[in-house]
Amino acid sequence: MKIYRPFGEDFRIGEIQLTIMANAFGLRTSSTKGANVELTLADCQKYFKKSMLKHKEARVVTFANNKGGVGKTVHAYTFATTACLFGYKVLLIDLDAQMNLSDIFIEDYEGELPSIMDLYDGKNLRNIAIPIEPGLNFVKSNEEIDVLKELFATSAPEKTLNPLNFIRRSLGVVKDEEFILKNKIDEVREDFDLIIIDTNPSIDKVNRSAYFATDHMVIPINPHGFSLSGLPKILPEFISARGKAGYPYKMGDVSILINNPMGSKSFDKFMNEIAEMKELLIPEVINFMPSLNESFNECLPIWSNENTQRWELEAVIRLTKSILDKVFGRTERGIEVEL
Ligand SMILES: Nc1ncnc2c1ncn2[C@@H]1O[C@H](COP(=O)(O)OP(=O)(O)OP(=O)(O)O)[C@@H](O)[C@H]1O
Ligand SMILES: [Mg+2]
Repeated sequence: MKIYRPFGEDFRIGEIQLTIMANAFGLRTSSTKGANVELTLADCQKYFKKSMLKHKEARVVTFANNKGGVGKTVHAYTFATTACLFGYKVLLIDLDAQMNLSDIFIEDYEGELPSIMDLYDGKNLRNIAIPIEPGLNFVKSNEEIDVLKELFATSAPEKTLNPLNFIRRSLGVVKDEEFILKNKIDEVREDFDLIIIDTNPSIDKVNRSAYFATDHMVIPINPHGFSLSGLPKILPEFISARGKAGYPYKMGDVSILINNPMGSKSFDKFMNEIAEMKELLIPEVINFMPSLNESFNECLPIWSNENTQRWELEAVIRLTKSILDKVFGRTERGIEVEL
């Protein structure tokens, strides 16, 4: 078994990257070390943590869209690793049977590692989280995760004649088992700043079990193709799940990330279509980033790719800050931090 660390021992942040990071957060650096700045992951976390607002418990951010290939996993991974670099304590959860995120962190894990399924055998998140980096823990998915749908099913055929079950079903009552993930997440909220969930491309009860726990949902969409057509489905699903979980949806609990428009000819038409959802849009449109794609395919974050361009880093940090602002209201505490 091999764990791919997104940063690793040799990771260093130089003066240029540090300036880009600080500028994007409106921070001034007061280093006297000039071009000789070389920060390790731990230095970087310590440095930025000083200027971020503290939060008593973790917020849960879920990346979701029933349309496949829109950028859920790449942005969940990038947001998690970037937040980790900025000193946030992150728990990242893979809830997709495709295991894309699990394959990014771990190779050859056959039977050796705990997975999300163990939560349904009485384990808790502290038992099953895999430490990846200081400040970054990961919960592996499982190829068998779809069996949870049976566990969550409210309509076992042999029970359909029972009038009470019929009423429960028509009211869309949720079985207790579907709340296990939310309950286990609530147990560890004080251990983290962010709990980030990557979901599978569908509307199903496995994803819904994550929505019960979700404070903020990020929906990446591509303006070409049909990704907008999924929105009318996923939004009511999330709003209804939050209602059932007992803390109703508020405007601002969802944001839409326009990802990879690829010079789409219909971009203007798309922007008109989406105009009525303007409040939900993340202000940055994220273009195709060659280095992001390259490093993601090599199981590394954009931070650990030497080909990364300045504009790509700036885009990733601005996006991270936009999501943090949406999730926490405000991100930074002061404007100057000393190295
Ligand atoms: N802005 C971007 N810049 C570069 N590459 C991108 C960008 N957005 C997505 N990609 C690439 O597109 C591919 C699909 O992205 P990703 O796997 O994140 O989609 P997904 O929504 O998680 O898919 P699925 O629904 O199958 O889980 C990946 O190879 C990723 O690197
Ligand atoms: Mg994915």
